Amino acid sequence: MTTIDDCQIIQFPRISRPQGNITPVQGRIELPFEIERVYYLYDIPGGANRGGHAHWNLQQVIVSAMGSFSVEVDDGSKRKSIRLNRAYYGLYIPPMIWRELIDFSSGGICLVFASKPYQEADYIRNYQSFIGQKAVVDAGPIS
Ligand code: TYD
Repeated sequence: MTTIDDCQIIQFPRISRPQGNITPVQGRIELPFEIERVYYLYDIPGGANRGGHAHWNLQQVIVSAMGSFSVEVDDGSKRKSIRLNRAYYGLYIPPMIWRELIDFSSGGICLVFASKPYQEADYIRNYQSFIGQKAVVDAGPIS
């Protein structure tokens, strides 16, 4: 059972120099999982929303590498919104949490570290299905 309380900000190391900053992100060190995939969203038109789904098994950490945007997370009972606006903060999202990414600043870049390769079968793209499946998963196995 996962809840929005599991969606926590991770603060990454920041190595600052007069020439600029470096933030290293390593699987199983800065992140609670091995990184199997990295992807990024860019050239996001004003007013666009991303996400709008949950994952059966995937864990992700979402970073605003440039600019800012908000992530709304929803566990079927509660919802919260987190504004990401620093490249050294990541938002951890466990499995079975509905998420929406909204209010992108212009030129924003969203970087995502994921625990598994892309698999369409891992998505739940319909909110009502998510609510139904979440209730089943949270109830646990029938004994
Ligand atoms: P999706 O995850 O729905 O985007 P977002 O949550 O950012 O709105 O993916 C959009 C499309 O891109 C969808 O057709 C699947 C494809 N896609 C891949 O092929 N590989 C990937 O790693 C990702 C994240 C998406």
